[in-house]
Amino acid sequence: MGGLQQVKKIRIQHLAEAKRAGEKLTMLTAYDRPTAALFDAAGIDLLLVGDSMGNAVLGYANTLPVALEDCVRATRAVAAGARRALVVSDLPFGTYEASVQTCFDAAVQLLKAGAEAVKFEGGARVAPQIKLLSEAGIPVMSHLGFTPQSVNALGGNRIQGRDADSARRLVADAQAVQEAGAFAVVLEMVPSALAAEMTAELDIATIGIGAGAATDGQVLVWTDMAGMGEWEPSFVKRFGEVGAALQAAAAAYAEAVRSGAFPDLDHSFES
Ligand code: KIV
Repeated sequence: MGGLQQVKKIRIQHLAEAKRAGEKLTMLTAYDRPTAALFDAAGIDLLLVGDSMGNAVLGYANTLPVALEDCVRATRAVAAGARRALVVSDLPFGTYEASVQTCFDAAVQLLKAGAEAVKFEGGARVAPQIKLLSEAGIPVMSHLGFTPQSVNALGGNRIQGRDADSARRLVADAQAVQEAGAFAVVLEMVPSALAAEMTAELDIATIGIGAGAATDGQVLVWTDMAGMGEWEPSFVKRFGEVGAALQAAAAAYAEAVRSGAFPDLDHSFES
């Protein structure tokens, strides 16, 4: 068993140690207490209160409508379920891009709700925000490559860093967020070879999603990972069929109620 799995409580320095030791980091999204507790018990190292909650559980078309209050409420729930995992919470669209002050204020709310680090999208353009938060004692995870909050500007869910110019920008952004003080960076929908190169060049941990096998860790949206969603991206592997199991449980319950088999004497108060 690797050293990371012996760690009783994951802290940000464990990511750098894991990178140096060549141990893979595991991260899943979580949006509520029960799933956070299950993933924590399964040994997942990092729980991401992702703004993917917008499309994964809140019924939105994308992450843009997610409000800070949504992330605060979900962070409180996830923090209540997490014991070992590091809880990282997303700053939603509109809360951090325009100024260092709004970014700080939003991050403070997430930390007060139980987040141990925050994540937000962007490279050099948000380096001042990363610097201020890091200096203020708020650990920052960066998010580069396909950044879902920029889906309109990027023209849809597109792989980033495919041509030389875009790859150069991505590498420069990764250096900028590292220099500004980010402790890790998510690389989303980036060609495997470029993600491998960035992982080798950076001191901070890279966590990939649709970025191949060479990153220091992997993250997936839990509903995709567990077979809960109706659709999932091509880079996702389903590790379970939780949706089908839940539907079968609900159908069995409905059938038992309709037939009068539930509640039976074992599940009733007789006096
Ligand atoms: O919100 C989210 O779930 C994310 C992951 C896709 C990395 O940012």
